[in-house]
Amino acid sequence: MRPSLVVANWKMNGSGDFLRDYVERLELDQPIGIDVVLCPPSIYLADLARVVRGTGVVCGAQDVGIQPVGAHTGEIAAEMIAEVGADWVIVGHSERRIDQNEKDDLVATKAAAALRAGLKPIICVGETLAEREAGHEIAVVERQLEAVVDRVDLEGLACGAIAYEPVWAIGSGMTATAEQAQAMHAFIRDKIAHLDVEIARKVRVVYGGSINPENAEELFGQDDIDGGLVGGAGLDPVQFAHIVYSATS
Ligand code: PGA
Repeated sequence: MRPSLVVANWKMNGSGDFLRDYVERLELDQPIGIDVVLCPPSIYLADLARVVRGTGVVCGAQDVGIQPVGAHTGEIAAEMIAEVGADWVIVGHSERRIDQNEKDDLVATKAAAALRAGLKPIICVGETLAEREAGHEIAVVERQLEAVVDRVDLEGLACGAIAYEPVWAIGSGMTATAEQAQAMHAFIRDKIAHLDVEIARKVRVVYGGSINPENAEELFGQDDIDGGLVGGAGLDPVQFAHIVYSATS
């Protein structure tokens, strides 16, 4: 399958001025045939949704609360994210698994909450360096994936994406090799195919971890890599556009 989804995760970066300047400088000729998603901090989502309207680019949140409404101070419901104009939400990013101690179960519940509100979840999985060095990378990703497929409707999964992000590759400049990434993506697709072949064909499995304009084309050229989740390079609209175009070539 040709790559069809490229996402910029701005993490805790940006400002009102930043997002307006970014979208102005993000030169993408539409239609580009790829879903291009910008994920700012939630406080800027409504603003960004207004700014990208009509450009072909859409936006998403970086996290979601699990309850629909109520007494949950500090949380943001999936329905609220959808209401301000976002289409996607990242769940289970390793920075949240580490900083907020999010476990597989909670990540799966967040994916289900996203689907409840009509948002498409980007479900992050990936092993740490210690886990890879111990030869446990497949077991870790399998465990993370199983928690999700146990909880989430498979049709819903098909409209979202799985992001394989080896923790050691995030923000480190140490990208997984194309072979390492392809091997894990094939494992993920195969695991889903055991449940439903059609869903496995449809779900986008994207790679994240130090993607840049130099390595994107090789990664996106792999059979089971359907796009990318881009952190650092996604903060620069010129670099991000270059990465998006690498997915089209
Ligand atoms: P990176 O981040 O591209 O800076 O490695 C990717 C991510 O955390 O999603």
